[in-house]
Amino acid sequence: MLSDFAAQVQELMLANRRVGEHYQFTVPSPNSYPYQWLWDSCFHAVILSYFDLPAAKAELRTLVSRQFPNGMIPHMIYWDRSPQSGFPHIAWGKRSTSSITQPPMIAYAAWQLYQSDKDKTFLRELYPHMRRFYAFFFNERDPRGHRLVGIINPDESGEDNSPRFDMALHLPSQHPSEVNFKKRLALIERNRVCGFSTQCMDNFYWVRDVSFNCILTRNLRVMADIAKVLGHHYDAVKYDQLAEEVALAMRSVMMHPDGTMYSTYGLNYRRIEVMTWAIFMPLFAHLLTPDEAQSLVEQHFDNANEFATPYSLPTVATNQPSFDPAGFWRGPVWIGANWFIYHGLSDYGFDEQAARIKYDSERLIAQSGFREYYNPTTGEGYGAQNFTWPGLVLDMNRS
Ligand code: GLC
Repeated sequence: MLSDFAAQVQELMLANRRVGEHYQFTVPSPNSYPYQWLWDSCFHAVILSYFDLPAAKAELRTLVSRQFPNGMIPHMIYWDRSPQSGFPHIAWGKRSTSSITQPPMIAYAAWQLYQSDKDKTFLRELYPHMRRFYAFFFNERDPRGHRLVGIINPDESGEDNSPRFDMALHLPSQHPSEVNFKKRLALIERNRVCGFSTQCMDNFYWVRDVSFNCILTRNLRVMADIAKVLGHHYDAVKYDQLAEEVALAMRSVMMHPDGTMYSTYGLNYRRIEVMTWAIFMPLFAHLLTPDEAQSLVEQHFDNANEFATPYSLPTVATNQPSFDPAGFWRGPVWIGANWFIYHGLSDYGFDEQAARIKYDSERLIAQSGFREYYNPTTGEGYGAQNFTWPGLVLDMNRS
């Protein structure tokens, strides 16, 4: 199956490629998502690292080319607005980008490219951008120096409608998705009015998210590796130390006595005890001891009342009041989430469980095609078509 699958991925990545005078990147889906997105481009670089390194590099170069003066990389860049996709118009207060960010996966993606060809020149080119991007989080999103970064809109997590964010949006665990969308738009408006200054924004919405901080931690460790390779030894020490500090802060603030980590909201760290796939993200960030990891996997991954569905892995545990097997980020399987979990599990030596994630991802794609998300019970595909994330299965290759 794999070589056939690899050929399909290559074909899709080429069909979704967009090239202009100042850009080259891949749209996540031609009809539904016709622009450039931040963490999608990092996923694309990981996928392209298997067959087209120049395109992978072009994608990341294009991504950093619209970095803000404060170091933030916007989560959307509208390189070409002509496609009539019906994608909603959002008043970001910027002409060609959004004004919020997304999970900072860029160091991981750049490092994966470096592993393939040892091209230090490319790493050196990207380094100042990445340095400013990671500094942005500590300068702007951790104003009190707690070493936990906050997000100002659920969309920054990449999981727009996840029930992890209901409480902070003052929404019940079941509600129409249009109501959710309106709340998120209203947040953008309020933040625009207050000039996106953290001191103002953190009154409206301020979540320290588990997944986001896990992705940050893992990427800070990778930044330390990159800094070492480039001979920036002071930076390397600094990034390792920052990663350690975020890891410690996460453990002390987010860890429930039962060993599960939950996102928090508000300035006083109110724990949001909604069980989503994010409980497995501490594996990706290497935050847990082997014993803690073992009990997490036994109690939750292998639990038929929670995450052990016919197709792994539902983005929300099936026993949660918010679980909806067809709802956007409210239960279906997303291959991007599976990719993070696959790597977390295999890093800790859970080879059998990692193999199950890979096998189930392959079955979903074989049954329903390259879709945005899938029903964890029936395997039915939903949302965007010709969606790129299923290509990440190419990078589930450790077991
Ligand atoms: C949706 C997803 C987000 C992704 C974007 C483009 O908004 O929730 O994670 O980046 O689509 O694929």
